[in-house]
Amino acid sequence: MEKIKILGISGSLRKDSLNTKLLKCSGKALPENIEFDIADISGVPIYSEDVEALSAPQSVKDLEEKIQSADALIIATPEYNYSIPGVLKNTIDWLSRSEVLKHKIIAIMGASPGMLGTIRAQLHLRESLLFMRAKIFSEKEFYFSHANNRLDESGDLTDENDKKFMKDFIDGFVDFIKVNKQSI
Ligand code: FNR
Repeated sequence: MEKIKILGISGSLRKDSLNTKLLKCSGKALPENIEFDIADISGVPIYSEDVEALSAPQSVKDLEEKIQSADALIIATPEYNYSIPGVLKNTIDWLSRSEVLKHKIIAIMGASPGMLGTIRAQLHLRESLLFMRAKIFSEKEFYFSHANNRLDESGDLTDENDKKFMKDFIDGFVDFIKVNKQSI
């Protein structure tokens, strides 16, 4: 089987983002033979049909290309006002204009300093991605609450249970990719 490629997307542009840290932890938990890269969505402009009519921005084309060449995505989303941040929704709105997310295999996770760990945001994200007919990994769910106390200065998980949970989540996702990659 060819090498599996996974692309990570963080819904936060913040330098010290808990979600970007969690995303990096997920990359570190992947088996060595899996390629992992994180996309930068900071250059994606605000969506407008008028802008799109002129031509798709280069940042969107680049992101689409990266998504196309990846077998699967991991999206880590913050929760803003009970939903996903505008920057992530805006990116998804751009991506929805092509079929790049159709059948794309996606795992969702999210980190917050609060006690619900982005449950509400993840539900909204799932709905949007299902509408695009993405294949969402839903055997296991990853809500990382009190995240500011569970990552060390280098952004790594500190608690043994968290490390085990991350490994189980990632192992389950890799199995899901292998099964679904064959059926695409
Ligand atoms: C938040 N935060 C937040 N947290 C939460 O659990 N539920 C929520 O509805 C909100 N709403 C919200 C709105 C806005 C505008 C901000 C800036 C923040 C707190 C949020 O979880 C926290 O700032 C995270 O640290 C954001 O994720 P990153 O940037 O650390 O990845």
